[in-house]
Amino acid sequence: MRILHVVGARPNFPKLAPVYRAAAAVGIQQLVVHTGQHYDDQLSGAFFRDLGISPPDLNLTVGSGSHAVQTARIMERIEPVLETERPDWVVVYGDVNSTAAAALVAAKLGLRVAHVEAGLRSNDRSMPEEINRLVTDRLADLLLTPSRDADESLRREGEPDDEIVFVGNVMIDSLFHALPAAMGTGFRSSLGIDGDAVVVTLHRPSNVDSAERLAAIVDALREIADERPVVFPVHPRTRQRLTTMGLDLGKVRALEPISYLEMLDLVVAAHVVITDSGGLQEETTALNVPCLTVRENT
Ligand code: UD1
Repeated sequence: MRILHVVGARPNFPKLAPVYRAAAAVGIQQLVVHTGQHYDDQLSGAFFRDLGISPPDLNLTVGSGSHAVQTARIMERIEPVLETERPDWVVVYGDVNSTAAAALVAAKLGLRVAHVEAGLRSNDRSMPEEINRLVTDRLADLLLTPSRDADESLRREGEPDDEIVFVGNVMIDSLFHALPAAMGTGFRSSLGIDGDAVVVTLHRPSNVDSAERLAAIVDALREIADERPVVFPVHPRTRQRLTTMGLDLGKVRALEPISYLEMLDLVVAAHVVITDSGGLQEETTALNVPCLTVRENT
């Protein structure tokens, strides 16, 4: 049995790690292809080190671009790889552009596709991720779901029962695997934070691409920062918008993107997390940390 994993962006990597480890334990041959959708070390390479998995076997270095450009580049570059390798399964993760692009190419080559984190729905097609989820789930032959409501959504959309397998949330497997190492980083204390901090992440286009909305969020964060420490690792997309719009974060502590383990060390002891990340909503739930979600639907 040979499987080929395709990953590309930050939220994919913690989902890959437990699947990779489990497959290795039973002697399955594996190849990891990184599309290069994310390329900054803090959004990519650092995750492989933190998660204790080998670097990808191949990087397609597609880089950034509009949705069409990025998706097309991934498709062009992954097609010859899949044609040469012809694995028994192509495994794709989550809902980023790399997920949908790889699923489309694999399906057309007649390769079997397994989707890890199938069936999640926001029912909001203005989110690029929702389009990616719908496309990927239609094409996948094996739908590995994190939750029972995901099974229901897939059945409602007409997916056959024998393709849907409830496996639970692999990102939470990664979380508990990494927690001792995360707490050993001393990251929180290096920032002088002792458990009363508000941890913020924002990167959704719906929040950061609108000047009005981003300004309102920044105002709210500045107000909170008058009362208690607010730590905000800033995604590159958000950093660009803050700079272009000339927004001042006041007392909010803006950091460069931080590593997976550093983030866990912050989150596990946070007073509250304010985020628009789907993954962090799940991680805070597993850790019993309050989470305020900055989204219209979730
Ligand atoms: C992508 C995913 C999103 C996921 C997020 C996590 C899609 C459609 N979106 O959004 O679901 O939640 O990753 O981070 O797949 N950039 C860098 N360095 C990098 C990568 C990107 O500076 O390594 C900058 C570039 O200017 C780029 C921008 O960030 O244009 C956005 O990157 P992109 O991959 O298009 O989408 P994300 O917002 O990261």
